[in-house]
Amino acid sequence: MDRMRVMHFADRLFNQIDEPVWRIRAISHSHAVAALAALLARRRGLNVELAAICGYLHDLAAFERCSYEEHAFLGAERAVEVLRELGETDEKILACVRSAVLRHDDLDKTDGQMDEVLKDADLLDNAQMKARKDLRPVEAERLQRVYIELGIRQEL
Ligand SMILES: [Fe+2]
Ligand SMILES: [Fe+2]
Repeated sequence: MDRMRVMHFADRLFNQIDEPVWRIRAISHSHAVAALAALLARRRGLNVELAAICGYLHDLAAFERCSYEEHAFLGAERAVEVLRELGETDEKILACVRSAVLRHDDLDKTDGQMDEVLKDADLLDNAQMKARKDLRPVEAERLQRVYIELGIRQEL
């Protein structure tokens, strides 16, 4: 599965969101997280296409329902459904995306490599919207680790 097909499919879904705030957030955040996940995957020697796909789909359940409640749990199956609809049949790929989406809010745990790529990419984008004081300790600690990994010297 290549990321462009997923991007176009996801964009079509996002453009159908009635609420303008959610629609804009869906498009901007999903594209940002996909790009950041691809970057981190390249840095960590992982599958770049798959990382971007996780990024595009990770919050789909939230954006389609305009609610973050249980969105990781619901989104895991929703992401798999989308990929199957696009013709993906490789169960390893589907399991990888399902796992990453399911766990993307578990910032206090260390999971599989692709799970961690998605968590970090999501955090990098979310953190841009927040002042340092508004970051939870678990976010600040993880963000610091990612900045160090990327060679970014920044006082949090
Ligand atoms: Fe999320
Ligand atoms: Fe997100």
